[in-house]
Amino acid sequence: MKIKSLSLKNFKNYKDSEFIFSDRINVISGENAQGKTNLLEAIFYLSCVKTIHAKKEKDLILFDETDASLFAEVETAERNFNVKIDVSGAPRRIFVNGVRQEKVTEYIGNLQCVLFIPDDLSMIKEGPFIRRRFLNIAISQLKPKYLSALSIYNKVLEQKNKLLKNEKVDDILLDVYNEKLAKHGAEIIRYRRDFVHELQVEAEKNHYEMSSGREKLQIVYKTDRYITPENDIEEALLRHMNERRAAEKESEMSLIGPHRDDLVFMINSVSAKDFASQGQIRTAILSTKLAEREVFYKLTGEYPILLLDDVLSELDTTRQNFVLNKIDCGQVFITSCENLISPNLECGKLFEISKGGLKESREF
Ligand SMILES: Nc1ncnc2c1ncn2[C@@H]1O[C@H](COP(=O)(O)OP(=O)(O)OP(=O)(O)O)[C@@H](O)[C@H]1O
Ligand SMILES: [Mg+2]
Repeated sequence: MKIKSLSLKNFKNYKDSEFIFSDRINVISGENAQGKTNLLEAIFYLSCVKTIHAKKEKDLILFDETDASLFAEVETAERNFNVKIDVSGAPRRIFVNGVRQEKVTEYIGNLQCVLFIPDDLSMIKEGPFIRRRFLNIAISQLKPKYLSALSIYNKVLEQKNKLLKNEKVDDILLDVYNEKLAKHGAEIIRYRRDFVHELQVEAEKNHYEMSSGREKLQIVYKTDRYITPENDIEEALLRHMNERRAAEKESEMSLIGPHRDDLVFMINSVSAKDFASQGQIRTAILSTKLAEREVFYKLTGEYPILLLDDVLSELDTTRQNFVLNKIDCGQVFITSCENLISPNLECGKLFEISKGGLKESREF
């Protein structure tokens, strides 16, 4: 999958810019605060309809303007199409080949990408929300049914939490909610379990190689403790919810279900959260992100677009070379303040960014 071109109007610090990309490596270069990360954010937003750094969608619009527009031409093995998103004060509008897409859930997956940003390094140490977000963004792009199960689940969860806050909880309604949550929760868990299984295999290989054979990385999917590889997930969830009914009423919160899932990273059999060094964390996250790309390839037959923000800074030469060797296929965008062009980068295009504009571009 490749983005052939991108036009940005009033998107963050880009007033009006057009880019024609290389099918291979696109190096986005420039000094600090010129718009390198913003360019990756534009691609990520077109792909996942999620922001990276902006808190609200309105923050994507250039200061003092009212509308932003992003347009990209995309090529896949099967078809060529274009995508456009208009952002304004009103709900954003998404178009594929000029046809309005009413539901984001149906749009996601058209333009697939894997993103690495320096903030991802907090994925191991921070709370579980960030790890569930990682799973959600990855699996949503691969399995449209996952995103619809997730959005139904979240809606029902909200209703159930509201119900649990009532002084007198209606048990019949609680049964209805629990049944729905068990059904869609089981779907979510099945997708997450399969995805993590595939991810683990590739991430372990990457990490082993990047640590020169010294470390074994394991990514363990933690879900409800009533679920075993043998039993029926829906039935197990429902049973657990029923057993914890009194506790849920007491705490006025849903205590059971995949909204409490987590991922545990282990390096050489000990918890990375508790014991890993900065360098080990960086290696584990990079291994995981590069593994995510392999999983996409395995499942779809095409590499997703790889967006790497500031990935090489602070990596030693062995790890830098590993990353540069790993990106020997598919379309890649890589930002850097330094001159990145090295013999390890085979072919591509360099974009010099300055003050939210393209200063210069050249092929290498
Ligand atoms: N909505 C907006 N309108 C105008 N400018 C914005 C908007 N949002 C962010 N910016 C500005 O865009 C500039 C470039 O940000 P960006 O994160 O892309 O820089 P960068 O080139 O990646 O820098 P660094 O090398 O420090 O990572 C920042 O100065 C930021 O304040
Ligand atoms: Mg940046």
